[in-house]
Amino acid sequence: MTDIQRITVVGAGTMGHGIAAQAARCGFRVVLNDVTAERVEAGLKAVKHTYATGLAKGKLTEEHVASAEASLRGEIDLEGAVADADLVIEAVPESMELKRALFTRFEAAAPRHALLASNTSSLSITEIAAATKHPQRVVGLHFFNPVAVMPLLEIVRGEHTEARTIETAFALGKRLEKECIVVQDSPGFATSRLGIALGNEAMRMFEEGVASAEDIDRAMTLGYRHPIGPLALTDLVGLDVRLAITEHLFRELGTDTFRPPRILRRMVRAGKLGRKTGQGFYRYE
Ligand SMILES: NC(=O)c1ccc[n+]([C@@H]2O[C@H](COP(=O)([O-])OP(=O)(O)OC[C@H]3O[C@@H](n4cnc5c(N)ncnc54)[C@H](O)[C@@H]3O)[C@@H](O)[C@H]2O)c1
Repeated sequence: MTDIQRITVVGAGTMGHGIAAQAARCGFRVVLNDVTAERVEAGLKAVKHTYATGLAKGKLTEEHVASAEASLRGEIDLEGAVADADLVIEAVPESMELKRALFTRFEAAAPRHALLASNTSSLSITEIAAATKHPQRVVGLHFFNPVAVMPLLEIVRGEHTEARTIETAFALGKRLEKECIVVQDSPGFATSRLGIALGNEAMRMFEEGVASAEDIDRAMTLGYRHPIGPLALTDLVGLDVRLAITEHLFRELGTDTFRPPRILRRMVRAGKLGRKTGQGFYRYE
């Protein structure tokens, strides 16, 4: 098992900043990387915001926050960011080409012992790992949004992922205060495949006028005890992110369940991406 102390998170967006915040809070030394200084800064600012929320809710103390902030730094040079890492977690947009290109660079610049992980929601870990010479140390670490709140870590075993890589991932999940499940590398794993199926059907129902967005969501929160409705969840995740995932699942699995709903395409074209743009199925201030 690899002893993980230093974690580099590549991509400082919705998920990357959340993973970095959680890792720093749980005692790891963390480097947060993105393509521009502005994006790195935005990521670090979002981490501070996460900690401020934790403080306000009484879940964190001032000492906790001070020590977490001292363990975290930003870095725009990718090779410099991964040079000392025991674990690299990639959280860039859902594009196989982009992820593969990055994994080749991680392998060239990170220490030989480092584990290389992707936070992909649906792409093949085996295919990402094939861009490296040592696919045995590549694994899927699928966190959920918001990372500070969601208890699950879905560990994805690629075709060549070694048993000790899975063991290390499990131990890491525990230290990050997550409950782990292990799934084989299959499109959408366990979570996204089921979640997207429900989300797509909710969007088609909304488009057909079956009920309002609020009532479709209430059907699931009140009738099935889901903590959040499928349309509100789509807004939270980002409509562009969900479209990319369902396009991938449709290509891979071929069932109509995953055919992208027309309304999803229309809204993404119109820039209605959910919470991050202030409008999705709901409006946000
Ligand atoms: N949003 C969610 O709820 C969610 C949940 C679980 C998993 N995921 C997965 O996590 C990944 C990231 O999603 P997100 O929602 O955080 O996306 P996002 O668009 O919020 O953030 C992506 C970040 O990656 C950066 N980036 C792009 N190219 C880069 C490069 N070459 N090097 C470094 N940084 C780069 C972007 O500048 C951006 O800041 C995707 O694979 C997605 O499927 C998302």
